[in-house]
Amino acid sequence: MQSWMRAGLVYLVLSVFVFASAPIQYKHGMVVAQEPLAADTGLAILKAGGNAIDAAVAVGFALAVTHPTAGNLGGGGFMLIRLANGKTTFLDFREEAPQKATREMYIGPDGNPTKDSILGWRSSGVPGSVSGFALAHEKYGSKPWAQLVEPAVKLARDGFVMSKVLQGEIEGSSKMLGTDPESTRIFLRGGHPYVAGDTFKQPELAATLERIEKQGAKGFYEGETAQRLAEAMAAHGGLITTADLKGYKTKQREPLQGDYKDFHIITSPPPSAGGVGLLQMMGMLAGTDYQSDGADSAKAVHFEAEAMRRFYADRSEYLGDPDFYNVPVKSLLDPKYVAWRRSTIDPLRATPSDSVAPGLAHAAVAHIDWRHESDETTHFDVVDEKGNAVAVTYTLNNTFGNGITAPGLGFVLNDEMDDFAAKPGVPNMFGVVGGDANAIEAGKRPLSSMTPTIITRNGKLFMVVGAPGGSRITTGVMQVILDVLDFHMNPQEAVDLPRFHEQWKPDILYLQNGFPDKAFAALKQMGYDIKLIGGVARVEAIVDENGMLEGGTESRLNGKIAAY
Ligand code: DON
Repeated sequence: MQSWMRAGLVYLVLSVFVFASAPIQYKHGMVVAQEPLAADTGLAILKAGGNAIDAAVAVGFALAVTHPTAGNLGGGGFMLIRLANGKTTFLDFREEAPQKATREMYIGPDGNPTKDSILGWRSSGVPGSVSGFALAHEKYGSKPWAQLVEPAVKLARDGFVMSKVLQGEIEGSSKMLGTDPESTRIFLRGGHPYVAGDTFKQPELAATLERIEKQGAKGFYEGETAQRLAEAMAAHGGLITTADLKGYKTKQREPLQGDYKDFHIITSPPPSAGGVGLLQMMGMLAGTDYQSDGADSAKAVHFEAEAMRRFYADRSEYLGDPDFYNVPVKSLLDPKYVAWRRSTIDPLRATPSDSVAPGLAHAAVAHIDWRHESDETTHFDVVDEKGNAVAVTYTLNNTFGNGITAPGLGFVLNDEMDDFAAKPGVPNMFGVVGGDANAIEAGKRPLSSMTPTIITRNGKLFMVVGAPGGSRITTGVMQVILDVLDFHMNPQEAVDLPRFHEQWKPDILYLQNGFPDKAFAALKQMGYDIKLIGGVARVEAIVDENGMLEGGTESRLNGKIAAY
């Protein structure tokens, strides 16, 4: 039996098991996160009367300790907030290119990009997470700051029991971690790595967190932490200075919003490509009957994959940091443009990516004046008793970032600079390409796929969702949304369903193991070059069914729904 057939059988058996279970509903509050101790930390804050923003801040700091693969002080991300009164906001605490960064900084002597955007001290952007959490707390929090940081301090200082999942993640990254003396000492215990059941203590990280606990964001961006980080950067050829750190600011942006059938989608604006992608792809699908044969049918995969292909072509050309590049968001979401893009989908055949180009300059949409338009990551969701909702995706980029731990400070550094287009048309770590819109400039934020999203129905909270997964985040998040909105699954069923991904270049349909044989064969017939993969984005979701909360998480990978 071929492997995809075997996978299909396993999926059938699993799906009978999964779909038979009704979701547990909770009334008061819920945290869904990728690590149980952090999820429980957020739940304790909710039970103590904290709001969803308080809980999200506490989860963010706790994950920096218990899920160091992606949870972080040394990275950045996005927080989408919808308050119970309907107000929405988006906090962009994405890493920023240091002032010394230049457009060609990763081009080697042979004219091609080097590995420096992924490995080594020069791969880090200025971290944003601590600033993001501090602003969230200052504007929307209700509990004292120290109460939200303290659980993380304790987890770092007193330690926690190493899980099998974390042990595996450290093992998986041991080669990279082993190249840095501080990471070797802390995560590999000097060559005698921790195993599940051991207590893992991080005293340097506890001290860094204590400075944040006492002094707020200044305890990270100024004083001892900033000084030591900048000194280590200077000593190793890194670019981040004390001025970069002191100058870092979280940017508060308007979320992107759009309607899909009976639902209202609130999602991530640039420098995320995610929200534009989500709304554009769902806009293309809304005008089709893509769902008529079921979520895992060849028909659904085909229409969704074609929408993905067209969006990722646009992504490569038009999306970047809106403070540096005039991102034509309105044109990319113009109903006439979306309708034309949809009309180019052949219902029976895959369109070769080579015949799909970024679309706004096409003669068919010449009336749209877009050129002059003005205008390893982890995700967690929180909903509190009042109905405040928060979706956070934050990241170091690669698992354990660039593998370097800031000496004496205990936190891992990001390699987010790789999310820029180091050279036009040359794929980055996730295989996505870009050009001018996403070229490196001092102070600019690299384009992201992170897509924290909140959905309402009839003005009421309905869904909170997001995921890690590199360029597959946007497509993974969309599929879980469609599974709930169009295929009427509960969030756990939706998260459990195998997913797929298409990103224009390379011209490959990535199919998660577990699709039915029939769909697989039909898709091959339609002309798709299919590659089977283990997964597409680790999605976390909360659905609010008329005041009763249901969660969906990858529990096999340590995710937890903590609720009451
Ligand atoms: O912002 C982005 O799109 C990427 N830095 C996310 C990286 C990621 O999700 C890796 N983890 N799976």
